[in-house]
Amino acid sequence: MNKRTLRDLPDSALRGQRVLVRVDYNVPLEGGRVTDDTRIRATLPTLRYLLERDARVILVSHLGRPKGKWDAAYSLRPVAQRLRELVEAPVSFVADVVGAEAHATADRLKPGEILLLENVRFLPEEETNDAALGEALAALGDVYVNDAFGAAHRAHASTAGVAEVMREEGRPAVAGLLLEAELRFLGGALQSPERPFLAILGGAKISGKIDVIENLLPRVDRLLIGGAMANTFLRALGLETGLSLVEEDRLAVARELLERAGPRLVLPVDCVVAAEAKAGAATRVVDRDAVPSDARILDVGPKSVGMFRELLSGARTVLWNGPVGMFEVREFAAGTEAVARALAEAAAAGATTIVGGGDTAAAVEAAGVADRMTHVSTGGGASLELLEGRVLPGVAALDDRAGTGAT
Ligand code: 3PG
Repeated sequence: MNKRTLRDLPDSALRGQRVLVRVDYNVPLEGGRVTDDTRIRATLPTLRYLLERDARVILVSHLGRPKGKWDAAYSLRPVAQRLRELVEAPVSFVADVVGAEAHATADRLKPGEILLLENVRFLPEEETNDAALGEALAALGDVYVNDAFGAAHRAHASTAGVAEVMREEGRPAVAGLLLEAELRFLGGALQSPERPFLAILGGAKISGKIDVIENLLPRVDRLLIGGAMANTFLRALGLETGLSLVEEDRLAVARELLERAGPRLVLPVDCVVAAEAKAGAATRVVDRDAVPSDARILDVGPKSVGMFRELLSGARTVLWNGPVGMFEVREFAAGTEAVARALAEAAAAGATTIVGGGDTAAAVEAAGVADRMTHVSTGGGASLELLEGRVLPGVAALDDRAGTGAT
């Protein structure tokens, strides 16, 4: 990676210093409690690294989309509570972002202590990447660390703007340990994968993933397609897809991709169908050329699972983004669970297995195999943009390693 990371800084640059860390604590809340703390736990290595070096840690994050207004429903206060339970250091919280109270509390912070600021998206200037907010944030820290991979695709004041100010002023703006790991695994798979390199793409729509397919095709040995996005490819092959979700306006693109990819693009050979996409529906397994005109394809079938498993067992690098069926409904979850288990087996056999964030992370979690993966990304949109080959503004704004160019 050609960006400076926390580990490139000498301990003396951290000791007693105010270190402003952008984290992605955009976590689900229910009744004032955090219901999934994965993103909080994912930042603990960075926090511990800083605390062990007697830094004064100031955390800035967004939560939800409060649209530039103060709204108690999006307060980070419950997150501070959860963080207190996870980290062995005093954690304070302030209902302010860059105002006098935030400054006063940050100034009082002792080495080895943490302060979490209120939701930066309460300020309308965050999402417009307003220069004054970038400067105000920069004034809170001597060092800036971006550990918010999940928000790195946003060019906001707390991701891009603040880093640019730090750099202009000759202060460090570096990647945290989580951001570094995300880029190492996701970026590494794209740049120098151990082969065979196999990718599995699923999810509802081909339209949202065309750029990912385009970017992956020249790099992978096989691209396995599942989920509703496979339907559009099946229809492009001239097959009956019944009442399944098909993007008619993408059929030409699908045909062109099939032609270009040849045998590298692997589609399901059978599917689980039902009359309706809902719990309790009666399901049937049919070959892909026998889908009834009054049924919907809602999962990959057992023959496809067998084929995917066989291919996965020989892979050295596997990248998975998007469930292969409607896994949130039990009747249509078997394919996605089987793929999750097959990835765990591949990992046990020595393959590097990388799982995209969002739904796919939820799927490996539900299958109970998340901890058997080499890496589960904390980024949804960010991991997709990285897989599309795009430069992430929050990464681009960080310090370059000496002797390297931009990202
Ligand atoms: C996410 O959950 O993907 C990130 O926190 C980014 O959130 P956003 O899509 O609201 O910018």
